[in-house]
Amino acid sequence: MEKPSKIAPAKGKLGVLLPGLGAVSTTFMAGVELVRKGKAQPVGSLTQMGTIRLGKRTDARSPLIKKFVPLAELKDLTFGGWDIFKDNAYQSAANAGVLNPQDLEKVKPFLSTIKPMKAAFDHDFVKLIDGPNIKKGKNKYELALQIKEDIADFRKTSRASRLVTCWCGSTESFVKPEEVHSTPEKFIEAMKSNHPAIAPSMLYAWASITSGVPFANGAPNLTVDIPAIQTLAHDHNVAICGKDFKTGQTLMKTILAPGFKARMLGLEGWFSTNILGNRDGEVLEDPGSFKTKEESKLSVLEYILQPQLYPQLYGKMCHKVRINYYPPRGDNKEGWDNIDIFGWLGYPMQIKVDFLCRDSILAAPIVLDLVLFLDLAQRAGMRGIQEWLSFYFKSPMTAPGLYPEHDLFIQSMKLKNTLRWMKGEDLITHLGQEYYD
Ligand SMILES: NC(=O)c1ccc[n+]([C@@H]2O[C@H](COP(=O)([O-])OP(=O)(O)OC[C@H]3O[C@@H](n4cnc5c(N)ncnc54)[C@H](O)[C@@H]3O)[C@@H](O)[C@H]2O)c1
Repeated sequence: MEKPSKIAPAKGKLGVLLPGLGAVSTTFMAGVELVRKGKAQPVGSLTQMGTIRLGKRTDARSPLIKKFVPLAELKDLTFGGWDIFKDNAYQSAANAGVLNPQDLEKVKPFLSTIKPMKAAFDHDFVKLIDGPNIKKGKNKYELALQIKEDIADFRKTSRASRLVTCWCGSTESFVKPEEVHSTPEKFIEAMKSNHPAIAPSMLYAWASITSGVPFANGAPNLTVDIPAIQTLAHDHNVAICGKDFKTGQTLMKTILAPGFKARMLGLEGWFSTNILGNRDGEVLEDPGSFKTKEESKLSVLEYILQPQLYPQLYGKMCHKVRINYYPPRGDNKEGWDNIDIFGWLGYPMQIKVDFLCRDSILAAPIVLDLVLFLDLAQRAGMRGIQEWLSFYFKSPMTAPGLYPEHDLFIQSMKLKNTLRWMKGEDLITHLGQEYYD
């Protein structure tokens, strides 16, 4: 990919389109509004709070990222979305129960104006929920065209100069890449014939990308991880990224595991279990949806620890992940990890992590950063898979044949170096010999 010769300014409004107005989406929108009103801090958001070091350590140049690259400002964000339920964003947020009633009350007028457009839904893909706010059409292609119309209407009514879509809908049943996903032509034929391997999330992706709108995938669904959609992203000069927001337990894993590997500590096993009681948890009770999530969560350790390179340390590790739907907890998930490691001469040790986390509180700033960075990439003319955004995902998308980078610290360096590269600054290698000459 060529270095962007120039980055178009972030002029005008940025429209954020969210398929799925559930816990994550509403926590994100409510949070943006609370921050805009000066009533809260955007904690967890790199674009809002992060700085970037430029040049040597002795140069003392560490601007805020949002001052270094031309990002859209929060005041310019405007929101729209789709859901299978008719609840507006205020009702949905109240239902999700992530934010307390006092915080929600402060943004009630704003959230109440965000009403979901009718969803393209297929019960076969999300078995445990059903709702009334659903599009009708002869086939999947017609539904995708209706989504395109929604996008065009939203562009007009919101007066946004640019749009970004971020999938915050449910986890769909597991689908493997098939022949129908291989080219844009086969994909269209498959939509027309209602092929069972075309998931609703793919319809949103197809509609966005063919409308020139960048697309981020927050769920572990296949969605944009197929050649047909990636070819379209390339041909339409659209930036895409995914998949599955890296929050909670996987975030912890990608913080801890690189540390074990860096110190050459062995790993015998890692058992992770969760209880959660939100709608996401309910959807994950279905074995099809759980399989999609499990695949996304399991690959992390293999890639970080590289057992093929370190067979004595990681060759025999046993990795299990369980998710249990337990309604009393709502969005406040509890994730336990039992980690069996071994050290010098093979002597065993154990680490226990008990993370009482809040899923959507961790996911909301990720949505914000992805929206702002994808819009930046788009204005910089960067098309196709944006691997530098791996930092935000459990299963980062990469070019075919490339293994994904899961180590959070390498991901962070990759992200910041990409920003430096975009702006023509020196990349930072952390070599540091020059300080001792
Ligand atoms: N920390 C996190 O919360 C986290 C982390 C990683 C990934 N995710 C993923 O993000 C997604 C959203 O999570 P959530 O907690 O907000 O879930 P949620 O269940 O609260 O919200 C999802 C919403 O999507 C809607 N939906 C389902 N299919 C749809 C379709 N075809 N079109 C439009 N709307 C549709 C549902 O009705 C629901 O309101 C899930 O896929 C989840 O797995 C969340």
